[in-house]
Amino acid sequence: MTEKDFVPKKYSEIIEQGTVSWQAPSNIALVKYWGKKEHQIPANPSVSFTLKNCRTITKLDFSKKDGQEDFEFEVFFEGNKKEDFKPKIRTFFERIVQYSPFLKDYQFEIHSENTFPHSSGIASSASGMSALALCVMSLEKKLNPEMSEDFFRKKASFLARLGSGSACRSIEGDLVVWGKHKEIKDSSDLFGVNYADEVHDNFKNFQDTILLVDKGRKEVSSSVGHNLMHGHSFAEARFAQANDNLAKLKPIFAEGDLTKFIEIVESEALTLHSMMMSSRPYFMLMKPNTLEIIIKIWGFRKQTGLPVSFTLDAGANVHVLYPEKDKVKIFEFIKNELVAYCENGHYICDSVGSGAKQLSEEN
Ligand code: PMV
Repeated sequence: MTEKDFVPKKYSEIIEQGTVSWQAPSNIALVKYWGKKEHQIPANPSVSFTLKNCRTITKLDFSKKDGQEDFEFEVFFEGNKKEDFKPKIRTFFERIVQYSPFLKDYQFEIHSENTFPHSSGIASSASGMSALALCVMSLEKKLNPEMSEDFFRKKASFLARLGSGSACRSIEGDLVVWGKHKEIKDSSDLFGVNYADEVHDNFKNFQDTILLVDKGRKEVSSSVGHNLMHGHSFAEARFAQANDNLAKLKPIFAEGDLTKFIEIVESEALTLHSMMMSSRPYFMLMKPNTLEIIIKIWGFRKQTGLPVSFTLDAGANVHVLYPEKDKVKIFEFIKNELVAYCENGHYICDSVGSGAKQLSEEN
Protein backbone atom coordinates (compact mmCIF):
# COMPACT_ATOMS: atom_id res chain seq x y z
CA MET A 1 0.00 0.00 0.00
CA THR A 2 1.07 3.58 -0.54
CA GLU A 3 -0.02 6.84 1.06
CA LYS A 4 -2.27 7.50 -1.94
CA ASP A 5 -4.43 4.51 -1.03
CA PHE A 6 -5.54 6.43 2.06
CA VAL A 7 -6.90 9.40 0.10
CA PRO A 8 -10.66 8.85 -0.21
CA LYS A 9 -12.18 9.14 -3.67
CA LYS A 10 -15.79 9.83 -2.75
CA TYR A 11 -18.27 9.27 0.05
CA SER A 12 -21.50 7.39 -0.51
CA GLU A 13 -23.49 8.70 2.48
CA ILE A 14 -24.48 12.08 3.90
CA ILE A 15 -24.26 12.21 7.68
CA GLU A 16 -25.50 15.28 9.58
CA GLN A 17 -24.44 14.55 13.13
CA GLY A 18 -23.61 11.85 15.61
CA THR A 19 -21.20 10.50 18.18
CA VAL A 20 -18.48 7.87 18.01
CA SER A 21 -16.35 6.57 20.84
CA TRP A 22 -13.24 4.42 21.22
CA GLN A 23 -10.84 3.31 23.87
CA ALA A 24 -7.23 2.76 22.88
CA PRO A 25 -4.32 1.46 24.92
CA SER A 26 -0.79 2.60 25.44
CA ASN A 27 2.08 0.36 24.30
CA ILE A 28 5.62 -0.36 25.38
CA ALA A 29 8.32 -0.88 22.75
CA LEU A 30 10.72 -3.82 22.99
CA VAL A 31 12.75 -2.68 19.96
CA LYS A 32 12.66 1.10 20.06
CA TYR A 33 11.74 3.68 17.46
CA TRP A 34 14.13 6.58 17.86
CA GLY A 35 14.82 8.74 14.83
CA LYS A 36 12.54 9.50 11.92
CA LYS A 37 12.45 10.70 8.35
CA GLU A 38 10.01 13.20 6.87
CA HIS A 39 6.26 12.63 7.38
CA GLN A 40 6.71 10.47 10.48
CA ILE A 41 8.44 7.65 8.64
CA PRO A 42 10.53 5.71 11.17
CA ALA A 43 14.29 5.42 10.67
CA ASN A 44 14.07 1.82 11.86
CA PRO A 45 11.36 -0.76 12.57
CA SER A 46 10.10 -1.30 16.11
CA VAL A 47 7.96 -3.83 17.97
CA SER A 48 5.84 -3.31 21.06
CA PHE A 49 3.60 -5.03 23.53
CA THR A 50 0.15 -3.46 23.53
CA LEU A 51 -0.92 -2.70 27.11
CA LYS A 52 -4.26 -3.46 28.73
CA ASN A 53 -4.91 -1.05 31.60
CA CYS A 54 -3.29 2.23 30.50
CA ARG A 55 -5.91 3.51 28.10
CA THR A 56 -7.47 6.67 26.70
CA ILE A 57 -11.23 6.84 26.18
CA THR A 58 -12.32 9.36 23.58
CA LYS A 59 -15.79 10.42 22.45
CA LEU A 60 -16.15 12.49 19.31
CA ASP A 61 -19.38 14.46 18.79
CA PHE A 62 -19.78 15.78 15.27
CA SER A 63 -22.31 17.96 13.47
CA LYS A 64 -22.26 19.31 9.94
CA LYS A 65 -21.28 22.99 9.65
CA ASP A 66 -21.49 25.63 6.92
CA GLY A 67 -18.31 26.50 5.09
CA GLN A 68 -15.07 24.58 4.87
CA GLU A 69 -12.49 27.23 5.66
CA ASP A 70 -11.10 25.91 8.89
CA PHE A 71 -11.31 23.21 11.55
CA GLU A 72 -13.85 23.86 14.29
CA PHE A 73 -13.45 21.89 17.49
CA GLU A 74 -13.43 22.04 21.27
CA VAL A 75 -11.43 19.71 23.51
CA PHE A 76 -12.47 18.48 26.94
CA PHE A 77 -10.16 16.42 29.12
CA GLU A 78 -11.67 14.65 32.10
CA GLY A 79 -14.67 16.98 31.86
CA ASN A 80 -12.76 20.26 31.62
CA LYS A 81 -12.39 22.41 28.54
CA LYS A 82 -8.74 22.39 27.49
CA GLU A 83 -7.59 25.28 25.31
CA ASP A 84 -3.97 24.18 25.77
CA PHE A 85 -4.66 20.76 24.13
CA LYS A 86 -5.95 22.42 20.97
CA PRO A 87 -2.68 23.25 19.15
CA LYS A 88 -1.55 19.61 19.17
CA ILE A 89 -4.91 18.45 17.84
CA ARG A 90 -4.99 21.23 15.23
CA THR A 91 -1.53 20.08 14.01
CA PHE A 92 -2.85 16.52 13.88
CA PHE A 93 -5.90 17.61 11.85
CA GLU A 94 -3.67 19.63 9.50
CA ARG A 95 -1.49 16.58 8.90
CA ILE A 96 -4.37 14.20 8.23
CA VAL A 97 -6.84 16.45 6.38
CA GLN A 98 -5.56 15.33 2.96
CA TYR A 99 -6.56 11.78 3.95
CA SER A 100 -9.74 12.78 5.80
CA PRO A 101 -11.01 15.92 4.01
CA PHE A 102 -14.41 15.70 5.75
CA LEU A 103 -12.73 17.09 8.89
CA LYS A 104 -13.49 20.57 7.59
CA ASP A 105 -17.19 19.77 7.01
CA TYR A 106 -17.99 19.22 10.67
CA GLN A 107 -17.70 20.88 14.01
CA PHE A 108 -16.40 18.59 16.72
CA GLU A 109 -16.40 18.18 20.46
CA ILE A 110 -13.64 15.85 21.63
CA HIS A 111 -14.08 14.40 25.13
CA SER A 112 -11.14 12.39 26.45
CA GLU A 113 -10.10 10.72 29.66
CA ASN A 114 -7.23 8.45 30.67
CA THR A 115 -7.41 5.42 32.94
CA PHE A 116 -4.03 6.48 34.36
CA PRO A 117 -3.19 9.78 36.07
CA HIS A 118 -2.37 12.53 33.59
CA SER A 119 0.60 13.64 35.64
CA SER A 120 2.15 10.18 35.93
CA GLY A 121 4.92 10.73 33.42
CA ILE A 122 3.22 8.07 31.28
CA ALA A 123 2.98 9.40 27.76
CA SER A 124 -0.66 9.61 26.77
CA SER A 125 0.13 10.51 23.16
CA ALA A 126 0.10 6.87 21.97
CA SER A 127 -3.28 6.02 23.49
CA GLY A 128 -4.69 9.53 22.94
CA MET A 129 -3.76 9.84 19.29
CA SER A 130 -4.85 6.31 18.44
CA ALA A 131 -8.23 6.78 20.16
CA LEU A 132 -8.80 10.01 18.23
CA ALA A 133 -7.66 8.48 14.93
CA LEU A 134 -10.13 5.61 15.47
CA CYS A 135 -12.96 8.09 16.11
CA VAL A 136 -12.06 9.91 12.87
CA MET A 137 -12.17 6.55 11.06
CA SER A 138 -15.56 5.68 12.56
CA LEU A 139 -16.93 8.89 11.07
CA GLU A 140 -15.29 8.05 7.73
CA LYS A 141 -16.92 4.62 7.87
CA LYS A 142 -20.32 6.25 8.30
CA LEU A 143 -19.62 8.28 5.17
CA ASN A 144 -18.32 5.22 3.38
CA PRO A 145 -19.90 2.08 4.89
CA GLU A 146 -18.41 -0.19 2.26
CA MET A 147 -14.97 0.16 3.85
CA SER A 148 -13.42 -3.16 4.93
CA GLU A 149 -12.41 -3.86 8.53
CA ASP A 150 -8.82 -4.37 7.41
CA PHE A 151 -8.69 -0.99 5.65
CA PHE A 152 -10.35 0.67 8.66
CA ARG A 153 -7.66 -0.55 11.06
CA LYS A 154 -4.76 0.12 8.72
CA LYS A 155 -5.92 3.63 8.04
CA ALA A 156 -6.58 4.27 11.75
CA SER A 157 -2.97 3.25 12.43
CA PHE A 158 -1.77 5.33 9.48
CA LEU A 159 -3.57 8.43 10.81
CA ALA A 160 -2.46 7.80 14.41
CA ARG A 161 1.15 7.65 13.19
CA LEU A 162 0.81 11.18 11.87
CA GLY A 163 -0.25 12.32 15.37
CA SER A 164 2.52 10.51 17.24
CA GLY A 165 4.71 7.81 15.71
CA SER A 166 4.35 5.18 18.41
CA ALA A 167 0.54 5.71 18.45
CA CYS A 168 0.29 3.62 15.28
CA ARG A 169 1.22 0.58 17.41
CA SER A 170 -1.82 1.09 19.69
CA ILE A 171 -4.63 -0.14 17.43
CA GLU A 172 -3.94 -3.87 17.34
CA GLY A 173 -3.23 -6.26 20.16
CA ASP A 174 -0.47 -8.23 21.76
CA LEU A 175 2.58 -7.59 19.61
CA VAL A 176 2.69 -4.92 16.94
CA VAL A 177 5.43 -4.17 14.42
CA TRP A 178 5.79 -0.79 12.80
CA GLY A 179 8.36 -0.14 10.09
CA LYS A 180 9.45 -2.11 7.09
CA HIS A 181 11.53 -5.16 8.00
CA LYS A 182 12.66 -7.66 5.41
CA GLU A 183 11.84 -10.68 7.57
CA ILE A 184 8.43 -9.52 8.76
CA LYS A 185 5.68 -10.15 6.30
CA ASP A 186 3.39 -7.20 5.50
CA SER A 187 5.43 -4.84 7.72
CA SER A 188 5.13 -1.23 6.64
CA ASP A 189 6.57 2.19 7.41
CA LEU A 190 3.06 3.62 7.05
CA PHE A 191 1.20 1.74 9.80
CA GLY A 192 1.56 -0.86 12.53
CA VAL A 193 0.71 -4.51 11.84
CA ASN A 194 -0.04 -7.39 14.13
CA TYR A 195 3.00 -9.60 14.62
CA ALA A 196 1.67 -12.66 12.80
CA ASP A 197 4.44 -15.23 13.42
CA GLU A 198 4.52 -17.80 16.19
CA VAL A 199 4.53 -16.48 19.77
CA HIS A 200 5.32 -18.83 22.66
CA ASP A 201 2.98 -19.06 25.66
CA ASN A 202 5.71 -17.52 27.86
CA PHE A 203 4.78 -14.17 26.31
CA LYS A 204 1.02 -14.55 26.71
CA ASN A 205 -0.35 -12.11 29.26
CA PHE A 206 3.18 -10.81 29.94
CA GLN A 207 3.23 -8.47 32.93
CA ASP A 208 4.38 -4.84 32.94
CA THR A 209 4.59 -3.05 36.28
CA ILE A 210 5.28 0.60 35.57
CA LEU A 211 7.32 2.23 38.31
CA LEU A 212 6.64 5.96 38.38
CA VAL A 213 10.07 7.30 39.25
CA ASP A 214 9.35 10.82 38.05
CA LYS A 215 5.88 12.13 37.38
CA GLY A 216 7.00 15.52 36.12
CA ARG A 217 7.08 16.77 32.55
CA LYS A 218 10.07 15.57 30.55
CA GLU A 219 12.81 18.14 30.06
CA VAL A 220 13.32 17.11 26.43
CA SER A 221 10.37 16.04 24.29
CA SER A 222 10.41 12.94 22.07
CA SER A 223 10.20 15.07 18.94
CA VAL A 224 13.36 16.96 19.91
CA GLY A 225 15.03 13.62 20.71
CA HIS A 226 14.05 12.09 17.36
CA ASN A 227 15.44 15.13 15.54
CA LEU A 228 18.77 14.83 17.32
CA MET A 229 19.27 11.50 15.54
CA HIS A 230 19.84 13.50 12.33
CA GLY A 231 23.60 13.76 12.04
CA HIS A 232 24.11 11.66 15.21
CA SER A 233 27.50 9.92 15.04
CA PHE A 234 25.99 6.53 15.90
CA ALA A 235 22.73 6.85 13.94
CA GLU A 236 23.40 4.43 11.09
CA ALA A 237 24.83 1.76 13.38
CA ARG A 238 21.83 2.16 15.70
CA PHE A 239 19.28 1.80 12.89
CA ALA A 240 21.06 -1.34 11.65
CA GLN A 241 21.12 -2.71 15.20
CA ALA A 242 17.36 -2.22 15.62
CA ASN A 243 16.73 -4.17 12.38
CA ASP A 244 19.04 -6.87 13.63
CA ASN A 245 17.41 -7.04 17.08
CA LEU A 246 13.97 -7.40 15.52
CA ALA A 247 15.23 -10.29 13.37
CA LYS A 248 16.76 -11.89 16.48
CA LEU A 249 13.47 -11.60 18.36
CA LYS A 250 11.63 -13.75 15.82
CA PRO A 251 13.00 -17.14 17.00
CA ILE A 252 12.93 -15.88 20.59
CA PHE A 253 9.19 -15.13 20.35
CA ALA A 254 8.63 -18.57 18.79
CA GLU A 255 10.74 -20.56 21.26
CA GLY A 256 9.95 -18.54 24.38
CA ASP A 257 13.62 -18.10 25.31
CA LEU A 258 13.35 -15.58 28.14
CA THR A 259 17.13 -15.25 28.69
CA LYS A 260 17.69 -14.13 25.12
CA PHE A 261 14.55 -11.95 25.27
CA ILE A 262 15.89 -10.12 28.33
CA GLU A 263 19.26 -9.51 26.69
CA ILE A 264 17.70 -7.81 23.67
CA VAL A 265 15.02 -5.86 25.52
CA GLU A 266 17.33 -4.43 28.18
CA SER A 267 19.99 -3.63 25.59
CA GLU A 268 17.37 -1.77 23.52
CA ALA A 269 16.34 0.33 26.54
CA LEU A 270 19.91 1.22 27.44
CA THR A 271 20.80 1.94 23.81
CA LEU A 272 17.83 4.30 23.51
CA HIS A 273 19.12 6.26 26.48
CA SER A 274 22.71 6.13 25.25
CA MET A 275 21.53 7.73 22.01
CA MET A 276 20.18 10.59 24.12
CA MET A 277 23.39 10.85 26.10
CA SER A 278 25.50 10.90 22.94
CA SER A 279 23.35 13.39 20.98
CA ARG A 280 24.58 16.95 20.39
CA PRO A 281 23.32 18.64 22.48
CA TYR A 282 23.34 15.63 24.83
CA PHE A 283 20.67 15.07 27.43
CA MET A 284 19.60 12.50 29.98
CA LEU A 285 16.10 11.43 30.97
CA MET A 286 17.02 8.74 33.50
CA LYS A 287 17.07 9.73 37.17
CA PRO A 288 19.18 8.25 39.97
CA ASN A 289 16.24 6.08 41.04
CA THR A 290 15.95 4.69 37.50
CA LEU A 291 19.48 3.29 37.93
CA GLU A 292 18.80 2.09 41.48
CA ILE A 293 15.86 0.05 40.17
CA ILE A 294 17.84 -1.41 37.26
CA ILE A 295 20.64 -2.50 39.57
CA LYS A 296 18.15 -4.06 42.00
CA ILE A 297 16.52 -5.97 39.14
CA TRP A 298 19.88 -7.32 38.00
CA GLY A 299 20.73 -8.37 41.57
CA PHE A 300 17.38 -10.11 42.10
CA ARG A 301 17.63 -11.90 38.75
CA LYS A 302 21.11 -13.15 39.54
CA GLN A 303 20.10 -14.32 42.98
CA THR A 304 16.84 -16.05 42.06
CA GLY A 305 17.21 -16.91 38.37
CA LEU A 306 13.71 -15.48 37.79
CA PRO A 307 13.20 -13.92 34.33
CA VAL A 308 12.45 -10.34 35.36
CA SER A 309 13.71 -7.52 33.15
CA PHE A 310 13.19 -3.84 32.52
CA THR A 311 12.62 -1.48 29.69
CA LEU A 312 12.42 2.30 29.51
CA ASP A 313 10.64 4.68 27.21
CA ALA A 314 11.71 8.28 26.72
CA GLY A 315 11.57 9.11 30.42
CA ALA A 316 12.71 8.11 33.89
CA ASN A 317 9.97 5.56 34.63
CA VAL A 318 10.84 1.88 34.57
CA HIS A 319 8.67 -0.80 32.98
CA VAL A 320 9.32 -4.06 34.84
CA LEU A 321 8.55 -6.97 32.51
CA TYR A 322 7.96 -10.58 33.56
CA PRO A 323 5.97 -13.66 32.56
CA GLU A 324 2.65 -14.38 34.20
CA LYS A 325 3.83 -17.69 35.67
CA ASP A 326 6.35 -15.91 37.93
CA LYS A 327 3.98 -13.09 38.83
CA VAL A 328 3.61 -13.79 42.54
CA LYS A 329 7.31 -13.90 43.46
CA ILE A 330 8.32 -11.05 41.19
CA PHE A 331 5.52 -8.77 42.30
CA GLU A 332 6.49 -9.44 45.92
CA PHE A 333 10.04 -8.31 45.05
CA ILE A 334 8.71 -5.19 43.30
CA LYS A 335 6.61 -4.22 46.32
CA ASN A 336 9.33 -4.93 48.86
CA GLU A 337 12.36 -3.61 47.02
CA LEU A 338 11.46 -1.32 44.12
CA VAL A 339 8.39 0.71 45.04
CA ALA A 340 10.49 2.70 47.51
CA TYR A 341 12.21 4.35 44.51
CA CYS A 342 8.90 5.57 43.02
CA GLU A 343 7.60 9.10 43.44
CA ASN A 344 5.14 8.89 46.36
CA GLY A 345 5.37 5.09 46.07
CA HIS A 346 3.23 5.15 42.92
CA TYR A 347 3.22 2.43 40.29
CA ILE A 348 0.78 0.97 37.74
CA CYS A 349 0.09 -2.75 37.22
CA ASP A 350 -0.41 -3.54 33.58
CA SER A 351 -0.10 -6.48 31.22
CA VAL A 352 -0.31 -7.25 27.54
CA GLY A 353 -3.69 -6.42 26.02
CA SER A 354 -5.67 -7.03 22.89
CA GLY A 355 -5.86 -3.57 21.32
CA ALA A 356 -8.38 -0.78 20.85
CA LYS A 357 -12.14 -1.25 21.25
CA GLN A 358 -15.11 0.64 19.98
CA LEU A 359 -17.51 1.88 22.64
CA SER A 360 -21.23 2.60 22.38
CA GLU A 361 -22.46 4.72 19.52
CA GLU A 362 -25.45 7.01 19.25
CA ASN A 363 -26.57 8.61 16.04
O1 PMV B 1 5.87 8.28 19.40
P1 PMV B 1 6.89 9.26 19.92
O2 PMV B 1 7.29 10.27 18.89
O3 PMV B 1 6.48 9.85 21.23
O4 PMV B 1 8.24 8.43 20.21
C1 PMV B 1 8.30 7.44 21.18
C2 PMV B 1 9.61 6.80 21.20
C3 PMV B 1 9.87 5.79 22.30
O5 PMV B 1 8.77 5.66 23.18
C4 PMV B 1 11.07 6.21 23.10
C5 PMV B 1 10.16 4.43 21.68
C6 PMV B 1 9.02 3.70 21.08
O6 PMV B 1 9.27 2.97 20.10
O7 PMV B 1 7.88 3.80 21.58
